[in-house]
Amino acid sequence: MVAPLKVGIAGLGTVGAEVVRLIEQQSRTLSSRCGRPVRVVAVTARSKAKKRGLDLQRLDWAKNPLALASDPGIDCFVELMGGAGEPALSAIEAALKAGKSVVTANKALIAKHGLKLAKAAEQHGGALNFEAAVGAAIPVVKTLREGLAGTAINRVYGILNGTCNYILTRMEQEGLSFAECLKDAQRLGYAEANPSFDVDGHDTAQKLAILASLAFGTKVSQGAVYVEGISSIAPEDLRAAAELGYRVKLLGVAVRTSKGIEQRVHPTMVPKTSSIAQVMGVTNAVTIDGEGIPPITLVGPGAGGAATASAVVADIADVARGIGA
Ligand code: HSE
Repeated sequence: MVAPLKVGIAGLGTVGAEVVRLIEQQSRTLSSRCGRPVRVVAVTARSKAKKRGLDLQRLDWAKNPLALASDPGIDCFVELMGGAGEPALSAIEAALKAGKSVVTANKALIAKHGLKLAKAAEQHGGALNFEAAVGAAIPVVKTLREGLAGTAINRVYGILNGTCNYILTRMEQEGLSFAECLKDAQRLGYAEANPSFDVDGHDTAQKLAILASLAFGTKVSQGAVYVEGISSIAPEDLRAAAELGYRVKLLGVAVRTSKGIEQRVHPTMVPKTSSIAQVMGVTNAVTIDGEGIPPITLVGPGAGGAATASAVVADIADVARGIGA
């Protein structure tokens, strides 16, 4: 029998717990799709006692993320703690240095340190997969990295934050206040731990910077993105836009211009009849304008435990199949 891929997971919040559950539930399918079994063998999290509805007793519990990343008993380190800095950064660096492959959903970290980490992965022969960092279950990273590898890209744009789109949708359709909608987005597990990242546009800017670097081969620079969020929008603004035949969406746009790559995030009035105006709730949509081909639009769930876990497990499956390393 082919040796299983041994996976270690750091972070057992909404996404981490869902990844453990999904790998268990899909174990036969993963095994046949990857040509080898995929097993979670070790984990680490801030609290061992927290109720997660999972039997985690049989797994090894590493004392911290760095110890897990350096554990010779794992082949693939999965980072689901979040945060642009420590402990995620050192743990990922240690795993890559040890020749392991890394899967992460951490957009803040990839937007800030993606290039350095990609170089380390290349140098040591592991993969660095981050599909879940942008658009959750939508395979947009794969589309840009693989599907459109031979196509010059002129523009990438879309709705990249589930929380904002959910808030704008409910404010418009139900006349609810911004605060009420945000509370629901938090309850449903869409929002960041600090929701100002969502509503002030920074989460979209991080995702856009990642997409721009994949599309245009530029160094990821979140600082180069003009950012304006949705926190000052009231139901009356949305009603006024609707009377004129428009909907308001928070868009991220990265476009090749004669002066370089322009990146911006801001609320935008889109005609109600346009396809982007039909994207409602937590759904995200990304359109890619490639040279010589009609635009490609990908639409799907952009936030939430199950949607994010779906992309994380797909990245782990690629490691099991030896893709990307
Ligand atoms: N807070 C993010 C969002 C989660 O609402 O889109 C997924 O990246």
